[in-house]
Amino acid sequence: MPQEIAQVAIAIAHEAGALVRQTFPQAALLQVTLKGAVNPVTETDTAAEALIIKRLREAFPDHRVLAEESHGDDWRAWDAPGPPMWLIDPLDGTVNFAHGFPYVGVSLALLVEGKPVVGVVYDPLRDETFAASAGGGTTRNGQPIYVSPVKRLADAFLATGFPYDRRTAVDNNTERLDHFLRRSHGVRRAGAAVLDLSYVACGRLDGFWEKGLHPWDVAAAALIVQEAGGWVTDFDGGANYLSGEFFLASNGLIHDEMLRVIKERALAPLPDVSK
Ligand code: IPD
Ligand code: CA
Ligand code: CA
Repeated sequence: MPQEIAQVAIAIAHEAGALVRQTFPQAALLQVTLKGAVNPVTETDTAAEALIIKRLREAFPDHRVLAEESHGDDWRAWDAPGPPMWLIDPLDGTVNFAHGFPYVGVSLALLVEGKPVVGVVYDPLRDETFAASAGGGTTRNGQPIYVSPVKRLADAFLATGFPYDRRTAVDNNTERLDHFLRRSHGVRRAGAAVLDLSYVACGRLDGFWEKGLHPWDVAAAALIVQEAGGWVTDFDGGANYLSGEFFLASNGLIHDEMLRVIKERALAPLPDVSK
């Protein structure tokens, strides 16, 4: 059953992705509204979201839908008991989109009793579809994918992101960036968490962390990572990751080392520079 629902979600993600693709060349001309100092929303975010919600309501009239741009103030009830719940990010990477930087994704997750059972991330500019269903594995464009075999943080290629309150927040993630830069092979900040995580799932990246994400950023991609063999936890190694507040994902093999860097910060072991 989750796999059939995933097929419907993929079709909806493709339809919304077509809208993103069509408007991408004119992104700089679209009307941009600011939700915060560095947090824009474009006409494409709202149009893609309206399309996704309409299609989900047609296909699954009994399900609940929580979407980024129209969630209202009660979004913190994303895991409240009740019928199955869709968590939607219609356009992840809006800052990229608004600047014409081609790294954006459409994300749909279905939660049953607070747990993701279907996750779909679509990259409309590369026509790549990442999809997972609970117990059914992860695919990219229909083919199974798996996390990387990289065993040591010193050899790992990582990604992160920075919260929208980064101009004022005491913890804006730059200190963690410093610690990981000194201990890994490299860290990227490409600007679309759902794609970063899908890249962990297919081995293009080995790990990802971010502070201050939201459930619609991580619900689909967390399942995509897990079903590809990766691990997802909060910053304490626990299961409270779906809020997105303290989010860590990896190929599993470097997870403990990443947790140690987050916990011990500058005191975490450094790679042997003589090698
Ligand atoms: C953002 C992107 C970005 C991450 C931000 C998110 P949005 O989502 O995923 O990579 O660093 O924290 O809010 O606002 O473009 O949907
Ligand atoms: Ca997002
Ligand atoms: Ca978004």
